Amino acid sequence: MKCAFVGAGAVARKYASGLEESSLSLTAVCDLDADRAGQLAAAAGATAYSDLDDLLAAESAPLLVNLTSHAAHADVTAACLDADRHVFTEKPLALDATKARELVATADRRGLALGCAPINHACDAQRHARDFLTDGRFGPIRLGYAHAHVGRVTEWHDDPDSFLDVGPLYDGAVYPLSLLVSWFGPVDAVRVADALDVWPDREDRTPGRVPHIESMIEFRAGPVVRLTASLYAPHRSREFNSLELHGDDGSLYLADTGALAAKRETVSVGGAGRPYVAAPHPQPERTRPYIFGPERLAAAIGDGNAPIRGARRAAHVVAVCNAIERAAADGSRVDVEDSDAGLLAVGDRSCPPIRPPTRDASTNPSTGGAEEGDPISNRSASQTLRDAAIRLPSVGFGCSRYRDGEYVDRIDSIATALDAGYRLFDSAELYGNETRIGNLLDAPGSPDREGLFLIGKVWNTNHEHVEEACRGSLDELGVDAFDSYLLHWPDAWAYQGPLRDLASEPVEKQEERTFPTDDSGDPATANVSLEETWRRLEELHDRGLARTLGACNVSLSHLERLAETARVPPAIVQIESHPYLPRAEIVEWCHARGVRVLAHSPLSAPGLLTEDALCAVADGHDVSPAAVALAFHVDRGVVPIPASNDPAHLVANLAAARVRLTPDDRRRLATLEDPEFDRD
Ligand SMILES: NC(=O)c1ccc[n+]([C@@H]2O[C@H](COP(=O)([O-])OP(=O)(O)OC[C@H]3O[C@@H](n4cnc5c(N)ncnc54)[C@H](OP(=O)(O)O)[C@@H]3O)[C@@H](O)[C@H]2O)c1
Repeated sequence: MKCAFVGAGAVARKYASGLEESSLSLTAVCDLDADRAGQLAAAAGATAYSDLDDLLAAESAPLLVNLTSHAAHADVTAACLDADRHVFTEKPLALDATKARELVATADRRGLALGCAPINHACDAQRHARDFLTDGRFGPIRLGYAHAHVGRVTEWHDDPDSFLDVGPLYDGAVYPLSLLVSWFGPVDAVRVADALDVWPDREDRTPGRVPHIESMIEFRAGPVVRLTASLYAPHRSREFNSLELHGDDGSLYLADTGALAAKRETVSVGGAGRPYVAAPHPQPERTRPYIFGPERLAAAIGDGNAPIRGARRAAHVVAVCNAIERAAADGSRVDVEDSDAGLLAVGDRSCPPIRPPTRDASTNPSTGGAEEGDPISNRSASQTLRDAAIRLPSVGFGCSRYRDGEYVDRIDSIATALDAGYRLFDSAELYGNETRIGNLLDAPGSPDREGLFLIGKVWNTNHEHVEEACRGSLDELGVDAFDSYLLHWPDAWAYQGPLRDLASEPVEKQEERTFPTDDSGDPATANVSLEETWRRLEELHDRGLARTLGACNVSLSHLERLAETARVPPAIVQIESHPYLPRAEIVEWCHARGVRVLAHSPLSAPGLLTEDALCAVADGHDVSPAAVALAFHVDRGVVPIPASNDPAHLVANLAAARVRLTPDDRRRLATLEDPEFDRD
């Protein structure tokens, strides 16, 4: 779609830098400064204007992008709407709520699209944060701290006048306010506000509005957020654009409400009483270009829509800023005038939600998050992570207690993994800790059941007692069904009674019951065929105790046997795999049939993490060798399920899904394949 820029300053250059990759073509540029307009227009092959009326008279571009100085936004937008053009405008929509509402009303009346920056609610870090806010882990959010600092614009901006004119509210505060309004809906009132007229004496240029303002704003959905906006707090302030939200059961920290990309540490989570842990976005990093806002608006216009949803939110943000100023001036509570502006009207989907790109849509947990515009209510509107069992996160978490010949407690690490954002947990009756995991899942700070993918496994001694084993595990975990219930091994051993709460027994007793031997010390086997056990698993599936079925440690011939006889085919196959043992044949067989493969023991192969080839690839991406060992799987659509008791490892392992391997990396890793590999 053709578009024209009004304003050719610093921000216009940022928008222009994304044009080439976008679906928009810039045909005209207008700026009061004809030279500036000319330079930007020449670079884009567009026509330059120094008068907006001339541009509107001569150009047919249906979309105008308003990139003028803050105080000029409203008048320029009004002129463009009056000329029957769709408009995307930089923030703020206006400096006055009445004017902002008039713009929205004009666009609505004329059937024109009106959008407004910022686009932060549609960027990865903020969407990732939102996913945590909607999965029930925090309980009701009651309190927040938002920092909306712009910094000393006289020190860092070439052209600070526009910022000095409007103060910190109508620039910096718009970021957290837009995000919070998109998450929680309208603000009812500013409970209290105060302003400080602080500015360095040495500065010649001084702000036109108060440079520092504090306020407590009350959202209708419940949270009260203390918002601090400042031109005085300098750029190196520890808290600059951050947002911290506290619920009854945990806290969320977003390092930058305006982030256009999700860095590994942008979002972190503090589960009930636990230290904060980074919650890395589980996709390779991508930066939303500035032009994304106009581009998205153009796409909606191209579909025959004329969205004004973003502008309504922007108008509400202006009303909140106005109310903060009034509250600071009057020293009293101020109701926000248009707090019932219908921001969240049910069914208002005029602006299509943006979905993160996926190399494999089925491996993107972020897509399970809420869509733009769904209010987060304190009634914990949990979101369904997956609507089919086959949708798996990129990296899962192993819950086995067995570690280098001994048993270790895993519950603290499983709690940290929940906080970091792991969604898939690989448990088994053999691991003996299902009761403890169940207690954890039931405790404050854990996400709702719908947000998790829980795997259970029937142990070798229970092939004739599959239902008893499964019900026992479900009972211990306190859940109704497994997302996938797996055969731990194809080998059947002699029944040893129910294996409940093994972790509470002495180790010798646990081993006696789980690894029974005959008189000659060999495993005490049972004569049960794979097909027979699978039929028992299928009955569990029929009864709704297992949403899908799977098998571990199976060979290709086992899988071919199952393919011939199974009524409910396996959805998941879990095998040992790492660069020494890629198991390409099984992986290909499974992927050709829509079966997901999970790689168990992905890191513990002796010597793997110090292999030169692995370390070289790791150096190239500035990540650990372990991250590359895991990215090796993510890259080929296999889900690794590493275990770790170290919070730093656990976060790095989840972040392995952010590594994008190159063809050269793949070639290097392929050299590690060792057909003779034997762990023992
Ligand atoms: N179906 C089956 O038969 C089967 C068999 C085996 C395993 N599994 C599943 O697979 C899961 C994982 O397998 P696994 O327990 O054998 O271990 P693994 O994940 O291959 O390796 C775990 C070891 O690697 C270390 N580690 C983890 N992250 C690291 C990092 N970033 N850098 C350096 N070292 C790191 C851990 O130490 P730290 O704690 O210090 O990080 C631990 O010593 C199990 O928990 C279980 O769920 C299934």
